[in-house]
Amino acid sequence: MTQAADLLDPAERLDLDGLRALQLERLRDSLRHAYENVPFYRKSFDEAGVHPDDCRSLSDLSRFPFTTKADLRANYPYGMFAVPQERIRRLHASSGTTGRPTVVGYTENDLSMWADMVARSLRAAGGRPGDIAHIAYGYGLFTGGLGAHYGAERLGCTVIPASGGMTSRQVTLIQDLNPSVIMVTPSYMLTLLDEFERQGVDPRSTSLRVGVFGAEPWTQDMRREIEERFAIDAVDIYGLSEVIGPGVAQECVETKDGLHIWEDHFFPEVVDPITGEVLPEGEQGELVFTSLTKEAMPIVRYRTRDLTRLLPGTARVFRRMEKVTGRSDDMVILRGVNLFPTQIEEIVLRTPGVAPHFQLRLTTSGRMDALTVRAEARPDADAATREAAARSIVQAVKDGIGVSVEAEIVDPGSLERSVGKIRRIVDLRERRG
Ligand code: DLL
Repeated sequence: MTQAADLLDPAERLDLDGLRALQLERLRDSLRHAYENVPFYRKSFDEAGVHPDDCRSLSDLSRFPFTTKADLRANYPYGMFAVPQERIRRLHASSGTTGRPTVVGYTENDLSMWADMVARSLRAAGGRPGDIAHIAYGYGLFTGGLGAHYGAERLGCTVIPASGGMTSRQVTLIQDLNPSVIMVTPSYMLTLLDEFERQGVDPRSTSLRVGVFGAEPWTQDMRREIEERFAIDAVDIYGLSEVIGPGVAQECVETKDGLHIWEDHFFPEVVDPITGEVLPEGEQGELVFTSLTKEAMPIVRYRTRDLTRLLPGTARVFRRMEKVTGRSDDMVILRGVNLFPTQIEEIVLRTPGVAPHFQLRLTTSGRMDALTVRAEARPDADAATREAAARSIVQAVKDGIGVSVEAEIVDPGSLERSVGKIRRIVDLRERRG
């Protein structure tokens, strides 16, 4: 089932040839804009021996150098901006938990394009003008809250700017104000679930119809859990501050088969994380983005560190990205085996008697690293169920991922709850010199 054509905007109605032609024209302009206005790009293109005029086809983009988080840090705060400060209407910043934060800027046109992309995303998610949208992404320097906010307003929704936190009040607002759409991280949605139950309110009884979840990886099993517990459709929204914020890609509610990348503004590539070589469609690697229309901070071949693969379009002409497996930074290498928190999420959510709350604890055991999966028991799980669950998790990790871990089933409510992006890995390893 495809969405009625009259609900789509003109770019969503292009055919593939039309889309590729539009992208090439925009790409050439954007490369030129970056080269002429950002000394960093002029230098990096010159050093690589390429000029914007060398981009004659979309595949020529692979001749241009990558941009990394380290480049953004080195040019902190304003060095990557391509317009004078007076044209910048807003700044956002990454959390900066490691090292300097990254600052991003938007012109009036950038903010408008961003709102359009979030509005398009919400529509693909099943939101419609007139819907009431509860936004529980954090407001502030994080792009989640304000990004979702202006997009929902652009679509014509009534917005509840709840932001993250004050969980019991969120439940009251949802019950009293009757939103049909919620935008929040999947992990905070689980915190809300606890709170509904604590207040004795059936989470399936609310007015919510659709949830637009992103800002962190989540699995198909988590989708099933959330959809069932809340009786809603749960769809995935992706984005990152360096590209724009939320609204780079969105899953369509009618297919729920990965996220359509809004390719008329953000050109995707998937590359081998080690060699940087561009990989063919369908192969897993690191997602790389080039902005096609951004004014304040054009970005050329930005290495996201997110691992996924590109797939052809279905509900839209745009290519899809598969649900993100994880960030290369979150990959745990345990005795030579690579492991992502999402792989553990799948296992935990399939284990009877276990709640969808878990944590990965890394410790040092002798000269080796050890990993303990800590998962919470469901309230009705007795001692025997818990023991069986721990054994089953250990076995499933051994069989599915090929490495030995320990599992501990802890009491309901004992693991830290998320109010935004959840931290899955607790690294308690001793530092070796
Ligand atoms: O998290 C933007 C956002 C806000 C997206 C709200 C969706 C909803 P940053 O704080 O810059 O921006 O973090 C970007 O978060 O590179 C991914 O690693 C991760 N991420 C974002 N969306 C998803 C998703 C926002 N749907 C980083 N699935 C990205 C998996 C995601 N990971």
